[in-house]
Amino acid sequence: MATKTLEDIPGVGPAIAEKLQEACYSDIMAIAVASPADLSEKCEIGEKKAMDIIEGAKLCADIGGFETGEDILERRKQITKLTTGSKALDELIGGGVESQSIMEFFGEFGSSKTQICFQLAVNATLPEEMGGLDSDVVIIDSENTFRPERIIQMATYLGVDPQETLRRIHVARAFNSQHQVLLVEKAIQLAEEKKIRLMIVDSLTSHFRAEYVGRGALAERQQVLNRHMHDLLNFATLNNAAIVVTNQVAAKPDAFFGDPTRPIGGHIVGHTATFRVYLRKGKAGKRVARLIDSPNLPEGEAVFLVTEDGIKD
Ligand code: GTP
Ligand code: MG
Repeated sequence: MATKTLEDIPGVGPAIAEKLQEACYSDIMAIAVASPADLSEKCEIGEKKAMDIIEGAKLCADIGGFETGEDILERRKQITKLTTGSKALDELIGGGVESQSIMEFFGEFGSSKTQICFQLAVNATLPEEMGGLDSDVVIIDSENTFRPERIIQMATYLGVDPQETLRRIHVARAFNSQHQVLLVEKAIQLAEEKKIRLMIVDSLTSHFRAEYVGRGALAERQQVLNRHMHDLLNFATLNNAAIVVTNQVAAKPDAFFGDPTRPIGGHIVGHTATFRVYLRKGKAGKRVARLIDSPNLPEGEAVFLVTEDGIKD
């Protein structure tokens, strides 16, 4: 079957196809899962027209119906698991970080959220024989904490070319929450040229926390964050990619477990992330990970180390 183009969508001619392309809706599936308000705003078309295009795209992409359990099983067979570098941590999360889902690491400062992100980025670029995904990686860096020097240390330890590893990691600084949301669209464009099986957002929530202050801003913050999470999940589904996000929480472990709203973004982030792992500092440089929420895994804990060479048991 010939691949469909945007102009195969009913109601889309060359002019609208161009607008869609310019607004980064270059894939029929991406249009099918878009919201009418977004599509209308970004392509400067009426909301009614946007709804028609989305409906047309749904027909073209053959989505919107029910799938059998067997189909879902088939899709899930494509899921890959990316190693964190620690066997104990991998086991806790069911064998590694899964594609087609969002994994959230949350914890206080210094709990090693960023270090885990670096290690996963390096591991994703590794060949499959080495447990990698032979893939490029996108990192959305909202705290300016990306350190190429750490990537070089980790790659060197694994015996792979550090320069080549750095070439495969695409980092964009997010200057504010709006910019952060837009960078996901940039990543969709990049994924057309390069195989991207891992996208990292470190941190997911810091700009949101800083910008939407006070009770009055809460509803709007949650709405934007919700959309951002869904954009990320769409990316995961379209590219069979793993999404890893980080989230800082205040260090009050006692109060924490009784109050699931403590990580910022609360219910929104919690309900959209497929896996949530709480990280805390242990004794003698150890880190403890605790699986909080998973559709099919038991809760539990794993201990790992952060070393100069990376994440280890
Ligand atoms: P915030 O972003 O501030 O919320 O913290 P985070 O959870 O991202 O912490 P991060 O991953 O930056 O962890 C920092 C910790 O990793 C440090 O406290 C160090 O203990 C450890 N670390 C970082 N680099 C090295 C290294 O080269 N060698 C060793 N042994 N430890 C390191
Ligand atoms: Mg960090």
